[in-house]
Parts: sequence; C-alpha cells; structure tokens
Amino acid sequence: MELAKNNSQICILGIESSCDDTAAAVWYNNKICSNVISSQKIHEEFGGVVPEYASRKHQQNVVPTVLASLAQAGILKEEIDAIACTQGPGLMGSLLVGHSFTKGLALSLNVPYVNVDHVDAHVLAHFIDGDIPKLPFLCLLVSGGHTQIVRVNEDYILDILGKTIDDAAGEAFDKAGKMLNLKYPAGPIIDKLSEDADPLKFKFNTPNVAALDFSFSGLKTSILYFLQKATRQQKDFIEENKKDLCASIQYTIVSYLISKLAQAMDETGIREIGIAGGVAANSALRSELTSLGERKGAVVYIPKFEYCTDNAAMIAFAGKIKIEQQKYGTLSDVCFTRK
Ligand code: KG4
Ligand code: ZN
Repeated sequence: MELAKNNSQICILGIESSCDDTAAAVWYNNKICSNVISSQKIHEEFGGVVPEYASRKHQQNVVPTVLASLAQAGILKEEIDAIACTQGPGLMGSLLVGHSFTKGLALSLNVPYVNVDHVDAHVLAHFIDGDIPKLPFLCLLVSGGHTQIVRVNEDYILDILGKTIDDAAGEAFDKAGKMLNLKYPAGPIIDKLSEDADPLKFKFNTPNVAALDFSFSGLKTSILYFLQKATRQQKDFIEENKKDLCASIQYTIVSYLISKLAQAMDETGIREIGIAGGVAANSALRSELTSLGERKGAVVYIPKFEYCTDNAAMIAFAGKIKIEQQKYGTLSDVCFTRK
C-alpha cells in the first residue's frame, strides 16, 4: 500500500518505545499536533534501565499513550493515514512492544506503516518546525545510547562522520552520577547541581581517540579512581564536594564534545551546526555550542527541549520523510538492537 508522496494533509501516528519512554505523537496538516510521553519511574532505584521492567511498562502504557495522543490532536483512529514506529536501535523487549503494536494497528486500520531509525530521528528532529537548518548540516547527536557526528545532506541522506567506540555521552553522565550517589538518569541532575559550582576545581583526563570518533570509558575509570582515592583520604569527600564534582565532570564531557564538533567543522567547512538527543538538553552544552557558533561564524540550531529527549514527534516526522521516499515496512520486518 502506498500513499501520495507529498500529501500535505497526511495524518501520521508516531510510536516510540526503544528504551524506557513510551511515546506517541500525531503529525497532521504539516505539523505536530500532539506529543505525549509516558516515562517510567521504576528504573530510578536501580541506577539504570532494567530491560524486563521497561518492556512490561511499555505494554501497560502503549494503548493509553496512543489514545492520549489521538485525543490531544483531535484525531479519530480511522483518520490515521500511516503509522511510523521505531525499529531500532534500542532494547529488544521495549522495541518489540511498540513495533508489534504498530504492525497490528496498521493491519487493523488497513494503513501502511514505516520503520524509523531512532538515532536518525533524533537528528531529523531539527527539521520538524521552528528554525530549520540549511543543508548540508552538521549535527552532534548525544543521547543515552549514542554519540555521533552526523552530516545531513540533500534529501535527508545522513552520513556518520564519527561515533563513540565505547560508551555514549549520556551514559558517561549517568555512570558518573551513579558514582556520586545520584539517581538515574543523572544527566539532568548533574546539569542542575552544576549551576553556580566551579567547573575547574577537579581535572579529569579526556580520552584521546583518532579522527572524529569518541571514547568515554577511560573518563569513567578516571572519575572512579579519583573518587576512590579521595574518599579513602576523606570519608565524606563526595557529599562535601558534590556540586563542584558535577560541574567539573560536566565541563570535561562538554569540552570534549565541543572540540570534536569544532574539528568536524574545520574538516567539512560546514557552518550550519546543531545538537540533538537527550544530552542536547544540557545547559552547558547549549551555551558552549552557541559560543562555538560565534567563534566560527556558524548558524547554531538547538531543538526544542521536548524534541531532544526521547519522543514520538521525531518518529512521526522521520516517518513522513520515509513516506516521501516511498520506503514502507512489511510484516516480516524485525527490530534491531544496534546500528
Ligand atoms: O535521547 P535520550 O532521551 O534517550 C536515548 O536515546 O538514550 O537520552 C537520554 C540521556 C540520558 O543519559 C540522560 O542522562 C541524558 O540524556 N540527559 C542529560 C540531560 N537531560 C537528559 N544529560 C545531561 N544534561 C541534561 N540536562
Ligand atoms: Zn534517544
């Protein structure tokens, strides 16, 4: 089943369930009409996402979340023209809930569905609304599972110029936070605690990796060893220095990310730049990106906060592009956990 390539009235339901957020959104009349997210609090106490709990919660949340997104958009399910859903990467059990639900709903409504790559969707979130970047565009994608520098070419063809060889930037924030006894996800807490703290008080080694690739596992170890040594000398070291530790860790991660993006700008000559993914919500990263843009005479794009962390608006929009490219899913398509 195929739809008209450039139908501006098209109504697309987007569904996202790759990790611990169940999300649904409606794209209709060339704009996002609803963007609903059900987050899972259960993982906080475990210091990270527990895959089995995540899939059980998705199962409970998927129907109410989809119904809420349709209601918010004022759309009946019979008005849906196509469904876009995250195929991967992510946790298999979590992905399966959204993907299988999508196939079943598409079949019952007799509409096509499209598979969306979660990481690509984070980058494409820049093109949903507001100030739209000109192409080619360089995007630093920083989330809990991915860290990449992506070049967006004409027709939304994406090239990965560099990526992490181990942990992702969000993971570095979350794991460092765990060492500081912060709840999961620690990224936003570190961001908040860093306000008015000293980012230069503690120095951590930044990883040395070739070209435009990243590595965060060495940084994680260097923070761990530093904290172990410091707490042997002073038992309450972490509690006494928590804010400065947060600010110093944030400074280290952000400076590293920005230096790689600057290198990518020099190598490509591209002066349309942006950030995407959950860590793009970080206030230090946002302000450092703005400074980088000013230094290098580049136009800087930062997506709306609700399009940075996991959401289905980006999935619905990426689905619209897939429909324009006439790339539809089939019932035999399977989810994937890694790119
Ligand atoms: O894109 P996302 O919502 O999910 C994935 O696809 O992974 O990103 C989640 C990540 C988590 O690691 C979280 O700690 C981080 O984004 N994050 C932040 C901030 N808000 C979310 N990291 C630093 N500062 C923030 N303000
Ligand atoms: Zn994500």
